[in-house]
Amino acid sequence: MLLANAPRTLVDCTLGRAGHAERLLELAPALKLIGLDVDEDNLAFARERLARFDDRITLRHADFAQLGAELAAIGLEKVDGILADLGISSNQISDPLRGLSFDNDGPLDMRLDRRQKTTAADLINSLGEGELSDLLWFNAEERHSRKIAKRLCAARRQGRINSTVLLARLVAAAVGENPDAHRSKTHPATKTFMALRMAVNSELDSLKSLLSSAPSLLAPNGRIAIISFHSGEDRLVKESFRDLAKQGRYRILTKKPMISGEAERVANPRCRSAKLRVAELSAIA
Ligand SMILES: C[S@@+](CC[C@H](N)C(=O)[O-])C[C@H]1O[C@@H](n2cnc3c(N)ncnc32)[C@H](O)[C@@H]1O
Repeated sequence: MLLANAPRTLVDCTLGRAGHAERLLELAPALKLIGLDVDEDNLAFARERLARFDDRITLRHADFAQLGAELAAIGLEKVDGILADLGISSNQISDPLRGLSFDNDGPLDMRLDRRQKTTAADLINSLGEGELSDLLWFNAEERHSRKIAKRLCAARRQGRINSTVLLARLVAAAVGENPDAHRSKTHPATKTFMALRMAVNSELDSLKSLLSSAPSLLAPNGRIAIISFHSGEDRLVKESFRDLAKQGRYRILTKKPMISGEAERVANPRCRSAKLRVAELSAIA
């Protein structure tokens, strides 16, 4: 859907390991692609993977919240396509040093961009009980937010909470579940980890910035496609597209979000919760 308008320039705001970027460059031989990522390691991997397209790509270590400034820095005012595949990649989850997984013990870091200062451990060990509870509720709709915040604040009085496995065990204890029984079901700390990661990386704020800057960065008939992985993100995308459509600036191309088919879900279980929404900037916007 992104290539249907024969775009000449497209930004992949979440380059990751360049799976999407590589496919787009293969399918559209005249396409110039700008790729952004906050994670330097993924960016380095993507640079190698895309080496054969060297004269058609510009890769930047940047947050898509700064998309306008990043485009200006390379002399572009508008692009024909904007793609964002939100969240994190599997290699980031499985790297214990990133602190994103309760299965592999590691430091409670969670920063995707290592230039940033605040880690998940900083938040857990410094926020007040009410602030922690709000963070869990507003970012991930964790229904046990209060119990978990209470338990974490009690535990940190005995010593700093610094490791992923310790955090996972404290959360499981707070909700009265066995942390080792999660192989067959969702781990009780899943939402806590997601809420913290979102806070550390200011994920919803970055998405809001991208959504509000997109109409002024798209060329007439340019398209924006966003893949989101949880309801908070999808709601922001849906509302932004709907508001801009009411103003006559966007035409929504996905009346309902597109979801993956059964075969893709089996091959890649992570895409089960993915929702794709696409909109097109009006020619006279
Ligand atoms: C789901 S992965 C993208 C995978 C990619 N589509 C591919 O085909 O390999 C999300 C990527 O976006 C990056 N990311 C997350 N938030 C970002 C932001 N605000 N700005 C730029 N990159 C971001 C992550 O570091 C990660 O590499």
